[in-house]
Amino acid sequence: MSAIRAFGPGRVNLIGEHTDYNDGLCLPFAIAAGVTVRATDGPDDAIAAHAADLGEDDTFALDPDVAPGEGWRAFVRGIAAELLRAGHALRGATLTIRGDVPRGSGLSSSAALEVALALALLAHSRCPEPADRRDLARLCSRVENDWVGAQTGLLDQLAALFGRDGHAVRLDMRTLTVEPVALRLDGWRLVTVDSGVEHTHAGSGYNDRRRECREAGEQLGVASLRDATAAGAADLPAPLDRRVRHVLAENARVDEAVAALRDGDLERLGALLDASHASLRDDYEVSVPEVDRLVERLRGGGAAGARMVGGGFGGAVLALYPPDAKPPPEALAVAPGPPARLLEAG
Ligand code: GLA
Repeated sequence: MSAIRAFGPGRVNLIGEHTDYNDGLCLPFAIAAGVTVRATDGPDDAIAAHAADLGEDDTFALDPDVAPGEGWRAFVRGIAAELLRAGHALRGATLTIRGDVPRGSGLSSSAALEVALALALLAHSRCPEPADRRDLARLCSRVENDWVGAQTGLLDQLAALFGRDGHAVRLDMRTLTVEPVALRLDGWRLVTVDSGVEHTHAGSGYNDRRRECREAGEQLGVASLRDATAAGAADLPAPLDRRVRHVLAENARVDEAVAALRDGDLERLGALLDASHASLRDDYEVSVPEVDRLVERLRGGGAAGARMVGGGFGGAVLALYPPDAKPPPEALAVAPGPPARLLEAG
């Protein structure tokens, strides 16, 4: 029996948080940890999925209008249904899913799962991957929005599908252009440390922030906050003024981080991480006290900069350490790796 194995990486967003759904800028990289989906022949016109890490199963018909599921099942059912709706003639399959991205840590285990599922199902059915991976990113994002109920943007899916070994990618969410930026650390280290507070997007304040950004855009008369100005933001009622201030400053920090990387100025990159965290904590209000304390602890222990990563309300902290400083033992070293891909083509 021939097997397909597809891998979707998790991601770390170096900087550019809560900008993606505002047509803004982000600078993520794909990491080595991720989700692997193995596909073999399965029941006719049905999917039998096994989540190996959870010891749970789900079997459902290959039907574009299949009933949505809960938890991880929502992703599997959603990806299969959205692929069918997009015209891909999927075959029945048995799927085994395994992952090593800590769930709820802000390293995007969900996008890793989505892209690995999509690549595995397409390859198993001998359907070519869409010529433009942006289309696959949009499809996976529809699954988050419509099947899982999280109004997330395209950051995670683009990072997983367009990551590049040794590089971060500058994403312009207005034009969907992807620009690789060499991530040369010269002995400095990037690590993540889990705060222990698990977050979910569907249940957190994430969707509230999206609504606030929409409201701010309406009041400013702009289609997206990419077109907002500092002067316009200052006239908005609280907390919309603070929300827009974060988005504008964070977009600017992405390009400052790109410049810092090009100049090899890692001190500067550290300062930008700190500024991003302060803005996410005070203006965007998506941090939590445990995460703030962890950021302080890592800064006190020698990090040149640290900030929350991902949607917030818990999850992991990203920290940058100079060559002579030592991250805590529980830190996970993160480095830019390759994008989602087939590991075994059947
Ligand atoms: C989550 C979402 C992304 C993005 C980030 C915040 O990871 O999935 O779309 O909005 O939060 O930058």
